[in-house]
Amino acid sequence: MNLSPDEYSYQQAPSNQKLGHIPGEYGLPFLGKTIAMFADPVRMFHQHYEAFGPISRISITGQKAVLLLGPQYLQMLLLDSERNFSTKKGWDVFMSDFFAGGLLMRDFEEHRIHRRIMQTAFKSDSMRQYTDTINAVVTQAVARWQKQGEVLFYQEIKKLLLSIAFDVFCTVDPEDSDEDNINRAFMDLMEGAMGMVRKDWPGLLYRRGMNGRRYLTHYFKRLVPKKRAGNDQDIFSHFCREKNEAGQYFPDTEIADHMVFLMLAAHDTTTSAITMAGYYLANDPALQERIYTQSPADGSYDALMEGVPLLDHVFRETLRLHPPVSNIFRRTVRDCTIDGIHVPAHTMISAPVHYIQQMNEHWTRAQSFWPERFSDNIAEHKKHPFMWAPFGGGAHKCIGMHFAELLFKCTFNELNRQCRFDFLDEHYYPAKLQSFPFAKPMDDLPLKIVPRK
Ligand code: HEM
Repeated sequence: MNLSPDEYSYQQAPSNQKLGHIPGEYGLPFLGKTIAMFADPVRMFHQHYEAFGPISRISITGQKAVLLLGPQYLQMLLLDSERNFSTKKGWDVFMSDFFAGGLLMRDFEEHRIHRRIMQTAFKSDSMRQYTDTINAVVTQAVARWQKQGEVLFYQEIKKLLLSIAFDVFCTVDPEDSDEDNINRAFMDLMEGAMGMVRKDWPGLLYRRGMNGRRYLTHYFKRLVPKKRAGNDQDIFSHFCREKNEAGQYFPDTEIADHMVFLMLAAHDTTTSAITMAGYYLANDPALQERIYTQSPADGSYDALMEGVPLLDHVFRETLRLHPPVSNIFRRTVRDCTIDGIHVPAHTMISAPVHYIQQMNEHWTRAQSFWPERFSDNIAEHKKHPFMWAPFGGGAHKCIGMHFAELLFKCTFNELNRQCRFDFLDEHYYPAKLQSFPFAKPMDDLPLKIVPRK
């Protein structure tokens, strides 16, 4: 069902607060259950599920919302066959300033058109081209880690992915290079996006973040004409050269908005996934050796995507336990009914992927790291198509999913082929982990890196 321009007025409506007819509880005034969720999300959602069932009302992160707990509801929400749910309005409250104009901040037909234009940059042929660039940067980083002998893994992965982003997302001529300022603007933007007081006032993290955003937008906009005229194969150049169905280029501002969102969507999510996998692998030297026996020497796109099943299972299991996008938000655009329960128009909906991927009734030893559950002969995730959904699904399914997988596999393939790695402190495991905004060990995971030869 297509929406007429009139129907897009849902974007102006305030969120519905009247959910008294739905079982559940909001928790503390204003804070709701946010503190309990930050402390232990799986436990908090489990208690809510036990008390009120799979569809309930709750208040989290300042929002009154309908909570959906179960893969079947996640599927209904993401596939949205009746176009009941706005993605833009679901995420607006959390990211409208910093991510305005990003792909996730667009709905329905407008989203479809923008996504189509961005798609070429993420096709397999483009991925094959990025693989050599990624491998070259990873090889240098791993050589440096070997020399250092000890690293703070999370910090190193953050730096590594930032260098890769510069080479793959946006290659620039030396005279346009402004890497230090761009780096700083990008870091400010990411920190600003996490700021608690969301006002563009001097001295606040938020102001620093917004200044970062303004700097990046200006930088990308300035480069559009040159990129459009050139022949580079980076993601930015792909966007600049693509045309819409009417044969027109994307406006420069929109390209800049997409680039800013893309860099943010790519960075902390993948940094968290690689860091958490490093944590589990450091705890299991035998698994490192088994992966080593599968590791392809050439590190090509096809070899990495198809030929390292064990690494693939580690990727999936890490994202099951620690999905970087831990909660999917939507807002209803009209009245609808979910499993017999009336949900009014403009109601926030929350589907916590983190909890859904650890529900005891669907997963064996749901809270344990057990990559083999994804092997062909167990294939536990196949019981329901949305039991495992760290990349979402439907129209907004993560466009960078294969890119994230490629980054993950390039990093561990090279690291495993060259080195063994272990915790610096032999009594490290289990470490204190941070869940929000992205999972990582609190102390950034100090590791010992030992060359194989
Ligand atoms: C492990 C890493 C990553 C995870 C877990 C992840 C997860 C997600 C999820 C769950 C969504 C959908 C959110 C929703 O439906 O509300 C999403 C959307 C998106 N992701 Fe990722 N992501 C990752 C890495 C990346 C990378 C590397 C890129 C870019 C290179 C990227 C770009 C995007 C974009 C542009 C969207 C919006 C898609 C749309 O609205 O059509 N992500 N991601």
